[in-house]
Amino acid sequence: MTGLVPNARSRLIEASATLAMTDMANKLRAAGRDVVSLGAGEPDFPTPEPIAKAGIEAIEQGNYRYTSAAGTPELRQAGAEWLSSNFDLDYSKDEVMVCAGAKAALHMSLAAIVEPGDRVLVLAPYWVSYPALITLADGEPVIVPPNPERRFVPDAAAIEAMAKEHNAAGVIINFPSNPSGAVPSKDDLQALVDVCARHDMWIISDEIYSTLLYDDAEHISPASLRGGRERTIVVNGFTKSHTLTGWRTSFLAASKDVVATAARLQSQVLGNPCTISQAAMLKACQLPLPDEHKRRMAAFTERRDYLVREVNQLSSVSLATPRGAFYALMDMRPICEARNITDLQACHELLEQHHLALVPGAAFGAPGFIRASFAANIDTLKKAVVRLAAWVGAK
Ligand SMILES: Cc1ncc(COP(=O)(O)O)c(C=O)c1O
Repeated sequence: MTGLVPNARSRLIEASATLAMTDMANKLRAAGRDVVSLGAGEPDFPTPEPIAKAGIEAIEQGNYRYTSAAGTPELRQAGAEWLSSNFDLDYSKDEVMVCAGAKAALHMSLAAIVEPGDRVLVLAPYWVSYPALITLADGEPVIVPPNPERRFVPDAAAIEAMAKEHNAAGVIINFPSNPSGAVPSKDDLQALVDVCARHDMWIISDEIYSTLLYDDAEHISPASLRGGRERTIVVNGFTKSHTLTGWRTSFLAASKDVVATAARLQSQVLGNPCTISQAAMLKACQLPLPDEHKRRMAAFTERRDYLVREVNQLSSVSLATPRGAFYALMDMRPICEARNITDLQACHELLEQHHLALVPGAAFGAPGFIRASFAANIDTLKKAVVRLAAWVGAK
């Protein structure tokens, strides 16, 4: 036996709750059960062919060597143009870098700006990795409680109160939101930027779902608002919109200073993001694929509308209509209270008794809620609804 053990910081980092549910679902599947899973945040569509082909061509043409750690100059320039034409953001090539996925971009952002012990606000319901990423950067996550009464749109006054109380150095925001599908209005977002300006806070804006919008929802980056650009780090890319999930690419856009710092850190821990994937991402920037986007949004809209209609017919369960992304955050508080169980217990029951895999809201800082992903086809959703209804109707 040795006394050698992993360090204290790593012990603060829990395994992702979504992965834990996936593991349980996989075990049941391996035991021959017909498990329906709405756990994954990965579109069921393949990577569009011209983009995948650009990756293949990169290999065929020998374009697989190291690049600059911040990404190829062509891709950084294309990223700046993509951010400008789609989101009204004005960045030069040197203010954009390429990272290995949004998660890596968030890590590089936090590693570049967080001082040891800095408190960073996280708005619940939040994407599961934010608190861990802050902890890994030696910061301290401070959770702003969820506000279902505002449909999870940020409340500037509540955020300001938390910012003051904790002397916060920054805030991570994510709109359209995983898991709530919330998309704030321009006024709500400007109010948040104003709070951050008053308290000299960073904004880390995870915009990875920015093109997945329903009805009249509009994506606005805080970096495009008054007082936003100088304090915002934008994280965006094609992971979710183009199923570049496994390709591991993203953009980080910020001031030159922050980008140069993040690139320096990236050069030491990662080197360059995969060269082949950069070729695919360049194609995604250059080739907008409006028909593909329309097809995907039509499918997501059908699925969203189906879930909203069906879930709201169940007793003691409700679902506010998501305005972006592809998640349904179901309000299970009445049924959990009536049965005296937590959302986690409800998810275990659903999986064990009905073989339906969902993710408990507690994983997102929203106890009493359960997330269903509708990045699954409509037949899978129909099966899921039957199983959910059976659980709701049981007892
Ligand atoms: C809000 C949010 N940010 C970041 C990520 C990670 O994206 P990537 O696969 O590009 O690292 C996800 C993936 O689920 C997400 O939902």
